[in-house]
Amino acid sequence: MKTILVTGGAGFIGSNFVHHALGSRADSGPWKLVNVDLLTYAGNLDSLEGADRDRHELIQADINDGKQIRALLDRHQPSAIVHFAAESHVDRSIDDAASFIRTNVQGTQVLLEAALDYWKTGTCNAFRFLHVSTDEVYGDLAVDDPAFTEQTPYQPSSPYAASKAAADHLVRAWHRTFGLPVLITNCSNNYGPRQFPEKLIPLMMINALHGRALPVYGDGQQRRDWLHVDDHCRALMAVLNRGEPGRTYNIGGNAERDNLTVVQAICDLLDQRAPEGFSLDQPRRELIEFVTDRPGHDRRYAINAGRIEQELGWRPQMKFEVGLEHTIDWYLNNAQWWQRIQSGAYRESSREGYSGERLGTRSGQAA
Ligand code: NAD
Ligand code: DAU
Repeated sequence: MKTILVTGGAGFIGSNFVHHALGSRADSGPWKLVNVDLLTYAGNLDSLEGADRDRHELIQADINDGKQIRALLDRHQPSAIVHFAAESHVDRSIDDAASFIRTNVQGTQVLLEAALDYWKTGTCNAFRFLHVSTDEVYGDLAVDDPAFTEQTPYQPSSPYAASKAAADHLVRAWHRTFGLPVLITNCSNNYGPRQFPEKLIPLMMINALHGRALPVYGDGQQRRDWLHVDDHCRALMAVLNRGEPGRTYNIGGNAERDNLTVVQAICDLLDQRAPEGFSLDQPRRELIEFVTDRPGHDRRYAINAGRIEQELGWRPQMKFEVGLEHTIDWYLNNAQWWQRIQSGAYRESSREGYSGERLGTRSGQAA
């Protein structure tokens, strides 16, 4: 059985990737997963419920701890690293960029050093380092600009995007200078189960459910290209298995929508699916409030995913409106998942059932 070392596998996309890779639909499996996650506020062991313990090990560790990462590589001898770990929320990066530089830039550098050292031992000939990045590195598009291709110059706007751009450059440099077999993916906005409720879709859904205000930034006309997280996981597997080392692949959903339209769609779906959750005699759309815009807010992202479609045969399967319905149903059926985030319980009791060994020794880091 081949092993993948996943970083950040207790976060939104990482945990979905763990479930995907352990499932029967995963390419080139069966896989064993070693999941290295610091369990910051965004890491959630509840999201890993149901993951087969025989093929999935969670190790609480910081990617900045090069010695521990190197030891884990020796111990588990993975054929790949899939690197999700990051600070991922743009608004937080505007409030305080330090942790973004520490994890996204320095952490990636430490991981690259450890991976290079391990790869040079020759333990695994077909080793690959897959760096999971974002379309935000390309910056802002005007309404009639063509979509981002892999050749679009980097022009990040936020501290988050700048830190991811820096990481992408480091990953490319480790390929060009040292020959490390890396792959980079730049993906658009994901949505789906287990997304932390600070991001647009789950935040609006939970606020709307409770009849709270829905804070739309600026005029709500900013456009994002939405991709269901399951489609992203399939794309990552395709790149991991069949991508060409040194190459970058853009991943997108071909589903550009403006924010206001997305929020209105959430309101309408909740009016149909959970009318009892909202006592006021008004449609939820009336909860929408236009608030001060995000500083440096990019107006539009759009992805040209032609390369991954033509070279690797990947295409998104989930239509946005259908995926949004499924996502709303997941949040309605799994209220405990987000209620435990709201109460803070997910940070403590969800660790029960994972042994100290598996959680590693840096327990202080998780508080
Ligand atoms: P997330 O914030 O939900 O999860 C991040 C995970 O990384 C958490 O489990 C956290 O505990 C862990 N982590 C943070 N710092 C760490 C450290 N120093 N060491 C080890 N683990 C650490 O993020 P996400 O939305 O799942 O995004 C995952 C990756 O995908 C990120 O690299 C992000 O830039 C990229 N990405 C996200 C999207 C999106 O729409 N969410 C789109 C494209 C790319
Ligand atoms: O494009 C990929 C990126 O998508 C990822 O790299 C990031 O990790 C991920 O967080 C996401 O970034 P965005 O900034 O696009 O996502 P967010 O959910 O924060 O916001 C989506 C849009 O909605 C954005 O235009 C800002 C707006 N917004 C967001 C929030 C939280 C609002 O209008 N109101 C809000 O309360």
